[in-house]
Amino acid sequence: MSVDLEKILRPVETPLPVFPPKYMTLANGQEMVVRQAERDEIPDILPFVEPLMHVERDFYHIVASRVYAELLAYYTYRVQDEYVLIAQVEGEIAAIVNGRIVNPETGMSYHTLALRRGLRVGAHAFATKMEYHMDILNQKEVLIVAESPIGFRRWMIEYNLEKRFSVPHELGGCPSWSLTKELFEKARNTLVVGRRPVPGPLLNKAKAAILPPSDPPKAPEDLLAATRSMLDSTATSLIEMRKRLGGI
Ligand SMILES: CC(C)(COP(=O)(O)OP(=O)(O)OC[C@H]1O[C@@H](n2cnc3c(N)ncnc32)[C@H](O)[C@@H]1OP(=O)(O)O)[C@@H](O)C(=O)NCCC(=O)NCCS
Repeated sequence: MSVDLEKILRPVETPLPVFPPKYMTLANGQEMVVRQAERDEIPDILPFVEPLMHVERDFYHIVASRVYAELLAYYTYRVQDEYVLIAQVEGEIAAIVNGRIVNPETGMSYHTLALRRGLRVGAHAFATKMEYHMDILNQKEVLIVAESPIGFRRWMIEYNLEKRFSVPHELGGCPSWSLTKELFEKARNTLVVGRRPVPGPLLNKAKAAILPPSDPPKAPEDLLAATRSMLDSTATSLIEMRKRLGGI
């Protein structure tokens, strides 16, 4: 009985081509591998996302909360046609990107989460996800939204995305922006970097274990001391600080 119900709850997945892993050299000289995360690797990734739910800086809290739910949905077969790519440096997780296909022509970009700052790992991971939609899945457009000013700068401005405001995005029904094939081609030579095949030892290191990020974004010790807490209209800093101090 329960087995039959599970069959109904699980969407029938469209078989998607596997993303061929690639690697790129970061500004600090380290090599970063981007590869597809297998479904059974999701439980290894979740513990690195969870702490970011409490970092309000740069909207990590909302993005991490949604990414956590999306990864869980993927793991438990509660989302249709999702994929997850991860970026790793020396095995350490550096970025997570995910999305899904809406239909053969249209992709839905979910999130980009950088677990290491200042090296454009998020920008590279996002470009790689667009490459997956355009070159591997052969789609015509990808629908995108940003939840943070940095995200807006990275996607809407750097790629000069087109407005598709009549189409509600799956992330909260916000107005969508679109990366078309034409825009992707314009960005290909500047924003899309990396090489294939990934040298064996580099890929093996990445696949051997997903190591914790050594310098992930962290909330400040005193959340209310941060200047931006004064501008925090959602009072997240106050709520988190109260929680930390043992209040409600
Ligand atoms: C948006 C995001 C993926 C971009 O990642 P990224 O390309 O690796 O860029 P970073 O976040 O490291 O850097 C952003 C800017 O802050 C600067 N910066 C450098 N070190 C930083 C640090 N320790 N903390 C904050 N900012 C830093 C960078 O120099 C960069 O400036 P630039 O835009 O002029 O180049 C990442 O900021 C992130 O995960 N943000 C939270 C979640 C989010 O908003 N995701 C996108 C929503 S869809």
